[in-house]
Amino acid sequence: MATNIPGYTYGTAAVGKSPVSLDDFAKLKQASLFGDDDVRYLKMSHDILKDQVEQILDVWYGFVGSTPFLLHYFTNASDGQPNMDYLGGVRKRFGQWILDTANAEYNQDWLNYQHEIGLRHHTTKKNTTDNVKAVPIIHVHYIFALLIPITTTLRPFLEKGGHSRDDVDRMQDAWRKSVLMQVILWSQPYIKQGEF
Ligand code: HEM
Repeated sequence: MATNIPGYTYGTAAVGKSPVSLDDFAKLKQASLFGDDDVRYLKMSHDILKDQVEQILDVWYGFVGSTPFLLHYFTNASDGQPNMDYLGGVRKRFGQWILDTANAEYNQDWLNYQHEIGLRHHTTKKNTTDNVKAVPIIHVHYIFALLIPITTTLRPFLEKGGHSRDDVDRMQDAWRKSVLMQVILWSQPYIKQGEF
């Protein structure tokens, strides 16, 4: 998805190839019971969420900002103060990620960017995109945990589309599965070679 968001390199030559193949990803989808219906419900969510991105980010940033041990990862290594430029830069890419997740277009570029996002949470690439000197790694256990607040707080936004309760349930389920598969892909740099 081409945008002018600083540091958002999806689909560009700056992104390396994912060590996970499309075939591996097809098996991950199967293991997660992620199917064509989930793609359909994610795309349904796109139309509902696309005009609410800033409000969603306000909620998610509110959660991270008010949880000191999470805000920690956005703080300067030197003085422990939150780095507002860093928070602001990441926020723009996070907004695009909402749309990308709802777009549910799974191809090699998407897979490669998942790998890139993993590296950016891991010490390999954290801080380089925004050129900051913040703490060097996001500990992986919190990455899995955040699946819950992210997909729980999304529900009121999904409800605003005026769809049936069943449709909202299915959209939320599809989001849970998609975010689960993504955080699994992001965990790859954290795991010893041959054990992912
Ligand atoms: C970066 C999503 C967990 C802190 C990002 C980006 C996205 C994202 C979309 C921007 C990627 C890009 O550069 O295009 C998520 C999701 C999570 C999660 C969906 C869990 C389900 C966490 C946790 C923390 C965290 C637990 C700790 C507070 C950060 C930081 C960056 C970042 C500091 C910037 C990394 C860099 O230096 O490039 N995240 N994240 N994330 N996230 Fe997360």
